[in-house]
Amino acid sequence: MNTAADRSSAPALAVVGATGAVGSVLLRMLSQRADIWGDLRLIASSRSAGRRLTVRGEESEVLALTEDAFDGLGAGDVAIFLTPAEVSARWAPVVTARGAVVVDHSAAFRGDPEVPLVVPEINAHAVRTRPRGIVAGPDSVTAAMIAAVGALHAEYALTGLVVSSYQAASAEGRAGAETLRRQVALVAGTELGEHTGDVRRAVGEDTGPFAAPLVLNVVPWSGSLEADGWSSHELAVRAELRRILELDALPVSVTCVQVPVMTGHSLTVRAAFENPVELVRAREILEAAPGVVLVDDPAAGEFPTPVDAAGTDPAWVGRVRVSLDDPRALEFFVCADNLRKGVALNATQIAELIAGEFA
Ligand SMILES: NC(=O)c1ccc[n+]([C@@H]2O[C@H](COP(=O)([O-])OP(=O)(O)OC[C@H]3O[C@@H](n4cnc5c(N)ncnc54)[C@H](OP(=O)(O)O)[C@@H]3O)[C@@H](O)[C@H]2O)c1
Repeated sequence: MNTAADRSSAPALAVVGATGAVGSVLLRMLSQRADIWGDLRLIASSRSAGRRLTVRGEESEVLALTEDAFDGLGAGDVAIFLTPAEVSARWAPVVTARGAVVVDHSAAFRGDPEVPLVVPEINAHAVRTRPRGIVAGPDSVTAAMIAAVGALHAEYALTGLVVSSYQAASAEGRAGAETLRRQVALVAGTELGEHTGDVRRAVGEDTGPFAAPLVLNVVPWSGSLEADGWSSHELAVRAELRRILELDALPVSVTCVQVPVMTGHSLTVRAAFENPVELVRAREILEAAPGVVLVDDPAAGEFPTPVDAAGTDPAWVGRVRVSLDDPRALEFFVCADNLRKGVALNATQIAELIAGEFA
């Protein structure tokens, strides 16, 4: 733990969105990692102002998001935004105008060519080039697979990706988690036959942020409708993968599916390469990849599941197979905690890289 004297010379950190699903995880993470920060500001909407949250073993009061909340922040300080995109878009420039750097994990800046999109295991170097003083982090579906895909790409040279997500409810924030909790309670109190209508009747009309009941169901939709039937979420993940891997024309096909899992995204990935893939070597690459753990022994019943991945930092990879019809393609399953590796850990790692520049 820093002493008071250490803290007065250490960079300040503002966490905007400290009360949200990701914010709560990030505060726990700050309490567990090396304490490099001085002044710590917890900021949320006026609804949460005055709440007291514990971080680094101390209680702090939540401030409402106003100009005053950033008083005293300047060069060398960092603000992590874990807020809806429109809030980040409105308030990030207020912080950068004071000289502090913004790390934003909403969709507000991910497509901005003047804002680097960073996953430290893959492109930490990109943090240093930030003409707007803003660094963006990716969507949690992208984050779940990028370390594994990036490591394989470095050896075999990617020529295409086909991805299906099995997304957790908490990816829709507190509202998503609360919706799933409510629906679980509703169906638990209902006599269910083998009829889909029974679930619809138990859950009622209010499906929260999901396009259909999530409990006991699979919902092949997230985001808004874009051209030709693709969802905004699917197109965003495609664009982010291309950007982070610096492969502007990579063929990428993504299908986003929401499943009744509280936390922990799962994905099936088919990665095609220029060069033939050798299974033993591919497994070695995955085992050595930073941020990846290989759990792949189906004979012993060992493969990743979101239940086991939730609450952990790495991306867990299993079911690794060379495609039956293409020796240049590898298929695998990956699980990662959408709140941790998806956002809180990625944002913390980026903020620590920035703090290191001024150390
Ligand atoms: N959840 C995930 O797995 C995930 C994955 C990737 C990216 N993200 C992104 O990370 C961000 C946070 O997600 P989340 O899941 O933590 O959302 P969340 O649970 O809904 O929390 C949102 C946070 O933003 C604050 N906020 C909302 N409106 C505000 C306003 N007008 N002014 C100030 N603060 C406001 C909320 O404060 P109050 O508590 O006061 O309302 C809360 O602290 C979003 O941009 C999301 O897209 C989330």
